[in-house]
Amino acid sequence: MRYDVGIIGGGVIGLACAWRLAQAGAQVAVFERGQVGHEASWAAAGMLAPQCEMMHYPPQRVAQAKRKAMFGLCHQSREMYRAFADELLAATGIDIELSLQGHSQSDWRIPGILYVLEAGDKAAIAAIREKFPASQFIASGSPEAPDFGSLLSSRPFVKQDDALWLPDEGQVENRRLVRALHMAITKVGVQIHQQESIERVRVEGSRITSLINSEREVQCAHVLLCAGAWSGQIQGLPRECLPPIKPIAGQIIALHEKINAIRSIVYSRHCYVVPRRDGHLLIGATMEDTGFEKSVTVGGVTQLLGAATALIPALSHSSITDQWAGLRPGTPDGLPVLGRTAMENLYVATGHFRNGILLTPVTAKLMADCLLKDVEPPAEFSLQRFQENQAEVEAGRE
Ligand code: GLY
Repeated sequence: MRYDVGIIGGGVIGLACAWRLAQAGAQVAVFERGQVGHEASWAAAGMLAPQCEMMHYPPQRVAQAKRKAMFGLCHQSREMYRAFADELLAATGIDIELSLQGHSQSDWRIPGILYVLEAGDKAAIAAIREKFPASQFIASGSPEAPDFGSLLSSRPFVKQDDALWLPDEGQVENRRLVRALHMAITKVGVQIHQQESIERVRVEGSRITSLINSEREVQCAHVLLCAGAWSGQIQGLPRECLPPIKPIAGQIIALHEKINAIRSIVYSRHCYVVPRRDGHLLIGATMEDTGFEKSVTVGGVTQLLGAATALIPALSHSSITDQWAGLRPGTPDGLPVLGRTAMENLYVATGHFRNGILLTPVTAKLMADCLLKDVEPPAEFSLQRFQENQAEVEAGRE
C-alpha cells in the first residue's frame, strides 16, 4: 500500500490534519507511538485563550511582528471553533463541550475568562491593548461584564478592579476532542497505526520514499510531521529538516468541587482554574524544562495548589480526584512550525507549545491548503525562520 500522506504523530494536530486531507480525497495513514491523542492532547486543559496567552507568551524578547502573527493565528483558530465543534458533532455525535460566546451551550458555565491581576500584569495588559487594539478586554466592573456573583456563585474572592473579564475566551473538553477526531478520521477511511512509532525515514535525493519502524516500511507520496515533543527525533532526516523542539512539561491537578461555584475560567500569572461541565476543576499548569520526564511531583503539586488556594481560598475544601503531566512541544520563539521543509515532500505541523488545542482547527486548514493547493502558511511560522537564527535553535535543542 502506498499512501498519499503519511502522518507521523496522532495528537490532535495530526488527527485534524488527517481529517481535512482525507475529506479532500487523500489516502492518509497516521502513525502514533502510543495511543492516539494520549500525550499533550490528553494532558491539556483545553483553554481557547489567545488574550491570556499573549500576556506572557511568547516572551517579550520575541519580535513584535512574530507576536502579532501568533496572536492573529490564535484568534483566527478560536473563532473557527464554533463551526469545527458543530462539524465534529454532525460527523460523530460527540459533543466536545465547547464553551465559547456565540455557541449554543447547555450547561451551567459562563464562557469567558476572569483574569485576576497581580503586580506586573498591568504593564503586560497595557502593552496588549496598545499593540492589539482589536482585542477586547472588559474591565470586570464595567456594565458589559457579568458581576462576580454570577461567575462565582459562592463569595467573590477578588475586588472588581483587581480583575479583567475577557468574554471572548473559552474552552473545549480536549479528551472529547481527541475521541471525536479519532472517530471522524476512522469514518473517512484514515488508516490509524497505534503503538507504532516511526523511527526513521528512507531518503532518496531530496525526497522521503518511506517511513520505517520495526513493524513495517510504508511508502508515502507526502509526509507530514506532527509528532509534538518528539518531532526532533526522526532518524534519517537532514538536520535542517528537524524542527528544534524541546519538551516543556506541565502538571495539572483535577479537583471536585460539589457546588459548581466557579462558573468561568479563572486565570492568573501563577495558575489557571478551568471548570468542566461535569463539575471537575482543572488546576494548571507547571512549566518545566526537564527533558522527557513527566512525573507529577511534590514540588509541582505544592506550587499549583498554593497558587490556586491563594487565588480562591475556598478551594481548600475541594477533593483532589486526579493529577497528571504532559509534554508541550516548545520552540525557541514559542511559535509553532508550519509548512514545507527543505525536503520536497516533507511538511511539518508541530511546536504548538501551550496552544495545541487552540490552534487545531487553523493548523488543519493551513496544512491541508499547503499539501493540496501549495499555499504556504505565513512565513512567521516557517521552519526556515530558524536557519536565520542558529544560536536560538541551538539553545532550543539543548
Ligand atoms: N495552554 C496552557 C498550558 O499549556 O498550560
